[in-house]
Amino acid sequence: MASRKSIGIIGMGWVGSSVAISILHAGIANELLLHDIKTEIAEGEAMDLSHGSSFYPTARVRAASIDDMMNTDAIVIAAGRGGKPGETRLQLLNENVIIARDIALKLKNYQGIVVVVSNPVDVLTYFIQKFSGLPEARVIGTGTMLDTARLKEILGKTLDLDPRSVHAQVVGEHGDSEVVLWSGATVGGKELRSWPGWSQKKETLITEQVRTAAQEIIKRKGATNHAIGLVTATLLKWILRGERRIITLSRVQPDASGLGNVAISLPTIVGTDGATEILIPRMSDAEHEKLNASVEVIRKAIASVDQ
Ligand code: LAC
Repeated sequence: MASRKSIGIIGMGWVGSSVAISILHAGIANELLLHDIKTEIAEGEAMDLSHGSSFYPTARVRAASIDDMMNTDAIVIAAGRGGKPGETRLQLLNENVIIARDIALKLKNYQGIVVVVSNPVDVLTYFIQKFSGLPEARVIGTGTMLDTARLKEILGKTLDLDPRSVHAQVVGEHGDSEVVLWSGATVGGKELRSWPGWSQKKETLITEQVRTAAQEIIKRKGATNHAIGLVTATLLKWILRGERRIITLSRVQPDASGLGNVAISLPTIVGTDGATEILIPRMSDAEHEKLNASVEVIRKAIASVDQ
């Protein structure tokens, strides 16, 4: 019999509700606990999702307090305000860090994996790890997993291939300073840069499309939710099954990384113990400089918070 898994979601806005439906469709939890500061929102979502239970693998969904979530295998933090059109993710920091701290303080004795989705995700991952005191490998931000997925989607369309057959990644901040690692991108073992018709112009254009993707959506529908919901549910599936996939995600980096004490995305092995091993990919000098600049952006944002 498959082992029973339980997942909690804190914050049932656009993102939390998309995370919930993606988890249910993926069949990775037998129990889904929903929490929102507005209790009725979590109750309403639990009722609505439960009514669909004939159409996804067996699972119970109910509204819960954060305390009720202490025996879950993973908790997703999607609480806080989302961005408005024209706002950067970092502009959400001062409001969302207060919410994140309240939650983190309740997670001090938590034994499962915490997945941070709220923005600015890197800075909040850093503070949630610090305030909760949980091991660094067990506090994971979705980070550039979404940006990498966006990059692969655009490249897949450009080359007329499935995105999963394109090997390319985005590292650094999940935000304006993110870095696309073009120099290491490959397709079928072939360097992307040697693909017929490939050009610097294409790289510049696609880099910009990936960087501004969320803004383009927020401008039109007011928020992003479906892709991040799928990203989060997939990340949870890989973690809870102990698949040891390598994905770009955010966590507080170890001192030995030379990146300093920040949370930022790099390719990382994930499994049942969380985001344990970080890989430093081969980068060109220019990419390396951009990654350092991205670290600096996050370092400054962390320092700007009045603790
Ligand atoms: C986005 C939000 C989740 O990039 O930051 O869609």
